[in-house]
Order: sequence, then C-alpha cells, then structure tokens
Amino acid sequence: MTPKPETLTAIAAEFGTPLYVYHADTLRRRAARLKSALARLDAHIHFSVKANSNLSVLRMMHRLGFGFDVVSGGELARLQTANIPTGEVSFAGVGKTVPEIRRALAANIDYFTVESAGELARIAALATEMALPARAVLRLNPNVDAHTHKYITTGHAENKFGLDLDTAATLWRQFSDHPALTLVGVHLHIGSQVRLVEPYLLAAKKVLAFIAARRAEGFAVETLDFGGGFGIGYDGGDDFSPEMLADALQPMLAGQSLRVVFEPGRWLIAPVGVLLMTVQYVKQAGKKTFVVVDAGMHTMIRPALYGGEHRIVPLSPAADASAVVCDVVGPICESSDFLGKDRELPPVQSGDVLALLDAGAYGMVMTSNYNSHPRPAEVLLDGDRYRLVRRRETMDDLLAAERACLGGDD
Ligand code: LLP
Repeated sequence: MTPKPETLTAIAAEFGTPLYVYHADTLRRRAARLKSALARLDAHIHFSVKANSNLSVLRMMHRLGFGFDVVSGGELARLQTANIPTGEVSFAGVGKTVPEIRRALAANIDYFTVESAGELARIAALATEMALPARAVLRLNPNVDAHTHKYITTGHAENKFGLDLDTAATLWRQFSDHPALTLVGVHLHIGSQVRLVEPYLLAAKKVLAFIAARRAEGFAVETLDFGGGFGIGYDGGDDFSPEMLADALQPMLAGQSLRVVFEPGRWLIAPVGVLLMTVQYVKQAGKKTFVVVDAGMHTMIRPALYGGEHRIVPLSPAADASAVVCDVVGPICESSDFLGKDRELPPVQSGDVLALLDAGAYGMVMTSNYNSHPRPAEVLLDGDRYRLVRRRETMDDLLAAERACLGGDD
C-alpha cells in the first residue's frame, strides 16, 4: 500500500521538487494499528505536533480520533487555524512564555506538562489573574537510559527536561490546594527513536512508585502521560512494537485507575512521508561520486544533525545496471549538507527523481531558509487523488519580512 513510483513521478512533475508527499492510506493503517495496540490500556493518544504540523495532516489526525501534544503557542495556533477543538491538547516544553500560557488557558486545553517550579508558579498566577482553571501534570525525569542518539535522549538526569522526583513531590504538596490550578498527574518522556520496550518499563516503575507515594499522602493522581518516543526502522527493519509495550504495561497498570496517555509523533507519521528531489549533477571527485540534488540539509536536516540514515531510492531505476556507491548531497555550502553517505544506488543522471523515505516526521517541520532557498511544497496523496497541502514558498515569501523594513535607498 505504499504509493506507486509512477504516481510519485507524476506528482513531482506537476508540483516540482524538492517536495514532501504524504500518503493518507499509510497513515490510516498505522493509526488503526496503534489504536488497537493501545486499546488494551484504554490509552488516549495525543499526536506530537512537532513531528509534522501541516494543517491538513493535523485535520486528518483529528478525524482519526487523536488528541494533540503541542510545545508552543504556534503549534496551538495551528490546531486552532485547522478548526480543531482544543479540549484534548496537552502543552509540553521547558520554555513556555507568558503569551503562550495565556493562549493555552484561553483555549481551555486539557493540561500543561510542567517542567520547573518557576513554570508552575507562572501558570498558577496567570490562571488566577485570568480567572480560568488550569490543569497540570508534572514532568518527572525518571533518569533512565533510552539507548538512543544523545541529542534525542531526554529522560536522563543531566538533560534539561523534567523534575527530579524529590522536587516534584515538594511541588505537589505546595500546590495541592491552589484555587486556580489542579495537579492532575504525572508525565515522562524518555527520548525519541526508542526501539526497546525495557526503558519504558523501568521508567514506569519509578513513576508508579511516585504516584503511590502521592496517593499515600492523600492526593488524587488521575493521569499518567508516558510521552512519545516509539522508534521506527529507518533501515527497513522492525518498528517499535506498541503491542509489546501494551502487553508489558498492562499488568503494571491494572487496578491503578489511571488515565493513560501517549504522545507519539515519529511512529505515526514518519513512514507516511517521502521527500522527492531531483538530481542536478553527478559529480566525480577522485574515487568519489557525488549525486547533487535539489534538496539538502535545509529541506531535511536529520542526516546532518543526528547522522540519521534514510533510505534513498530512484523512482525510475535504470534496469539491470550495477549499483554505484555515492554520496547524495545538497546545494548548501556546508560539508554536513548530505542526505546519504556511501549509498549504493543504480546509476542516476541529471533530471532523475529520487525519493528519501520515512520523511514524514521531523522533515518539513525542521526546514530552514538557509542559503535563501524557499521551503518545499507538501502534497497529500489519498487513494489515487492528490492535492497540495502547502504551496511552495516563493521568492516574495522569502523576502517579505525584510523588504518591509528596508526603508529608502540612503
Ligand atoms: N512528547 C514529548 C514531550 C517530546 O519531547 C517528544 C519529542 C514527543 C512527545 C514525540 O516523540 P516521538 O514519538 O516523535 O519520538 N528531531 C528529532 C526528534 C526530536 C524529538 C523531540 N521530542 C529527530 O528528527 O529525530
């Protein structure tokens, strides 16, 4: 049920490249699997908007029955712009500003995920001032190793995320009878692209002990948010198994009367998207072959930033040709501007379209205008119909914010 290469070729011809294409059938299939796996925990799923915040993608997620986890006022504004109700929205992130908190209170979101004492005090004060109720969960740092890349591990003691368990216990006591703010539960997020179930179980154990201790003090704890982090097989291998996680967590959570929440991003949306790019030049330098394409670290930064390895395939591979080892690189003036290194590709030539796979998460959302390239367009393919869900940026888009400030010639 992956899109046919001919369809992608037609889409690339119509809309140009670099281009993100999302496949609705793949999303529906993954959503159904995740829901059925987590149903045995009666879990709520808040899609992590940071992974892919396209308005049309968010609408699809809403229609599939998911809530949302946001990390900025901008992400909340995206939901509101897509006319998505904000009742099932959690708001995470270490740096929530006053305007962002105000926007979330006005939107009556489900709860804030609180990362520090200062933030909790700020939310309580703003809720009091606005005479609006605030609900919050405390993000605990369970200090477990998620065995993932160091830039995307978050549940370790030396990360900036969450509260150590003692600080969280003190805060709970301090804010237990606040008139405007209710502490409804706890949150954890151990990292991203996690492939093992074990770290979740270790973290769950610590967090359940914390919950038991608060309940023993007489406080009500109703929500346990496990964050996101489910990994995928970028190399074509197995994805993280939500079924195995649910099986292992079920006995631990039985009888706990907890409302369980997960916030997956990547697992749901990464395999839904491809990045299409056109070969500009094939350049020989000594023994090395460089395939220069019109995408790069400005259109997909994961390889440059994390050494992320995405499969890259030509849409119309030359028949019976032997593979060539090459680096697929972009136009940006940085040596880290590569999409794949030492890849075996069938011989390609200028004009060929390549697809970089599993690009639906942390792709478009991490694009930049570096070297003054306009951002790519996005297309949603549903059955055999497709449509633009974000138009390509124009040179005018690129220049508008500065042109307005340019003043006269002198
Ligand atoms: N919840 C919280 C609080 C998070 O910080 C994150 C991701 C998620 C949920 C969703 O995690 P996921 O299910 O997608 O793994 N740009 C990096 C990933 C950064 C993830 C940051 N936090 C990448 O491209 O690999």
